[in-house]
Amino acid sequence: MELIDKLNWRYAAKTMNGKVVAEDKIERILEAARLAPTSSGLQPFEIFVIKNQDLKEKIRPVAWNQSVITECSHLLVFAAWDTYTEDRINYMFDLTNEIRGFKNEGWENYRQKLLSEYPQQDAEENFNHAAKQAFIALGIAMVAAANEKVDSTPMEGFDPAAVDDILGLRDKGLRSTVLLTLGYRKEDEDWLANLVKVRKPMEDLITVIE
Ligand SMILES: Cc1cc2nc3c(=O)[nH]c(=O)nc-3n(C[C@H](O)[C@H](O)[C@H](O)COP(=O)(O)O)c2cc1C
Repeated sequence: MELIDKLNWRYAAKTMNGKVVAEDKIERILEAARLAPTSSGLQPFEIFVIKNQDLKEKIRPVAWNQSVITECSHLLVFAAWDTYTEDRINYMFDLTNEIRGFKNEGWENYRQKLLSEYPQQDAEENFNHAAKQAFIALGIAMVAAANEKVDSTPMEGFDPAAVDDILGLRDKGLRSTVLLTLGYRKEDEDWLANLVKVRKPMEDLITVIE
């Protein structure tokens, strides 16, 4: 199946059948999210993978009671950094030096530029920037899920403060940003499963400037 066919097959499942997704598929979906590019390579988010049914039951009422939360196999919570700190920036730059095995002057200058700007910025502005990076990983995870023939539902329909409380995210310097269910569609019961996908035409989306 070609990528475009898989993306046409993918839709935001409204109901799932509870079937468990094999761990090797989950691992490849998470690896794709890990490989997502982010601004300055900071990867300013973490992903919580919830398999625990009790925890899903707790989250469902604060997620507009969407049934797919408890019907899915794995519930991913993308949690962005609440702000940029010196430690967080240094961690990624040090990791890069360690993995590549050398220090580069340009890279070190860039570290100093970020250190002189990001930690001083408003925390809300930093969180919003971090959240955008988490959304890139969300997109890639959805494509990877479709590639595995695993259904998914991206979800912003939840109360982030309540999810933060349930998972104790604020104590970790994180804020829930977006959810992604992984599982298998209940094709016969999902009103959306067989409806034609609607997207605006290319000419309303793309402007080519020669
Ligand atoms: C960031 C984001 C948040 C979304 N939140 C929800 C949600 O809370 N509940 C839901 O059923 N669908 C949600 N959706 C699904 C969209 O409504 C859906 O992707 C869109 O209508 C396009 O349809 P398709 O994904 O089925 O092709 C969300 C999608 C995105 C990308």
